Amino acid sequence: MPAQTVPNAPEAAQAQPLGSTAVPPPEAVAPLIRGITVLHRLTEADGTLSLSALERSTGLARSTVDRITATLAHMGHLRLDGRDATLTPHVMELGNAYLAALRLPTLLDARADALADELDESVSLAVADHDGIRFIHQATRRRALSLSFRIGDLLPAERTAPGSLFAAGWTPEEWTAWRARRAADPKDRAFPAVPPRGEEGADGEHGEHEENEENEEFVRRAARAATDGWALDDQLIEPGLVAVSVPVRDPRTGRVLCAASVVSHTSRRTAADLRAALLPRLRTAVAEMESVLRDAPPADPGPSPSGLATWTTASKHELGREFIESLARGLTVLTAFGEGRAALTLTEIAKATGLSRATVRRALITYAHLGLVTTPTAPPHTFALTPRVLSLGFPPLSRTTLPRLAAPHLQALAQRLNEPAALAVLLTPPDAEPEIQYTAGATAPRVLTVDITVGTRLPAHVTALGRVLLADTPTAPPGPDLRPALAEIRAQGYALADEELESGLRAIAVPIRDRTGRTVAALNVATHAARRTLEDCITQILPELTHTATRIQSDLHTASRFTPVPLT
Ligand code: PHB
Repeated sequence: MPAQTVPNAPEAAQAQPLGSTAVPPPEAVAPLIRGITVLHRLTEADGTLSLSALERSTGLARSTVDRITATLAHMGHLRLDGRDATLTPHVMELGNAYLAALRLPTLLDARADALADELDESVSLAVADHDGIRFIHQATRRRALSLSFRIGDLLPAERTAPGSLFAAGWTPEEWTAWRARRAADPKDRAFPAVPPRGEEGADGEHGEHEENEENEEFVRRAARAATDGWALDDQLIEPGLVAVSVPVRDPRTGRVLCAASVVSHTSRRTAADLRAALLPRLRTAVAEMESVLRDAPPADPGPSPSGLATWTTASKHELGREFIESLARGLTVLTAFGEGRAALTLTEIAKATGLSRATVRRALITYAHLGLVTTPTAPPHTFALTPRVLSLGFPPLSRTTLPRLAAPHLQALAQRLNEPAALAVLLTPPDAEPEIQYTAGATAPRVLTVDITVGTRLPAHVTALGRVLLADTPTAPPGPDLRPALAEIRAQGYALADEELESGLRAIAVPIRDRTGRTVAALNVATHAARRTLEDCITQILPELTHTATRIQSDLHTASRFTPVPLT
């Protein structure tokens, strides 16, 4: 995308290889291309960049960076604090659309997780992405010894076990494209998730001869993978990291859909051990995955979305010049895809988004140019998302935790009310009274001292946080005397604690629920009896508290759709 130097006019539907410098087709939407560039740079920088760093790394004018980040912030995809732009969990909606449409995570993640538990080793699922592999699932048991990759990370095919399996099916054109990439990027600089190559050479330089030798070695590994039906990675990425992979095939067509890998470290097993000890189990697990695919009912598209992009016009009226409507509309096109909506026609996308066919068509041409959308051969006249959609913010956010995603919301709440806010979880030690533990907190500028040090524990039943958590806990409450109170809390949806923990301290708390509706944490605001009456707590604090809880929940639900989000 960046420099536009190659003077050719590619087919609109032809996906460009990574780092392509091809000129966009004339109908491509320039602001959408720039917005995608900003998302890529933020993703590569692990989620945060200053606006001036964004200006430098994109080569865009500062005023353009400002308008793009303002638009992305308005969409909820990033947060602007001070000089920094930070991706928010909401941006994962883009990657979620791809993963939901792909359906493999929905059907296979549980199998991969069970295998990781059984073997006590990491297990991953990866799909082919041109001459790279991209992870769609990680069940990580990795010890501190080696790198661990995230959902959405892209690795060069030739340095991985899944890559050998995918290359086994490459056409001569694909081999040519791979050789061209190797020649253009011998150190794998286009793959920020892996350590650069050749740094270990004695003279610091990796000769052409070694490069050719490594290339031919990959050609041989791919040929072997084709006959064996499995492949090994013996420390191709970094010393110590070993993996064995098996392809997961479409039971109807035999086409390779993804690769399942077991990953270990040479301190535990050599590559040969991995193959001898774990390959048989991996193969039976893959056979089970294939039968899950065979028996899966057709994807359930649910109710068709409609008018996904209609809000953009109002935002344009509201924000004026700062809001780039074509960027907002274009990004919304990606969210028209999902489970049971993997291949959509232009008409279907127009219907789902509420955008005109002309607008949708130009967005699709732009995405095809960027390699984010393809045109499947069947059904005819449809469009589908590519794995590259996961490069739009997914990897850095796929490892978030509830305290981390809640932190900016707590800060905003504490600031608005000028009172401290906190998040807590319930701990139920065996044979002891239940306790709460603070997991995140935000203090207000001027405030009485309330101890919200993360990690602090308190008896659950004397705090508003604890009562909200106990009210939704199926296990028996601590004392029968508390039962009516907890029933009332459950019914009203909040708990108030009035000077019970400490004289003068008043607190009000609401539950935070996961995607299944289970209460997993509680959010509170504390105040002093002299500052607010009980009535004030309900009329002034509760609406803000509920609003913040809704926002935290929304981030939690988005972030946890395809990967678990730790609660502490
Ligand atoms: C991984 O899941 O991290 C992984 C899988 C296969 C490889 C390397 C790493 O070859």
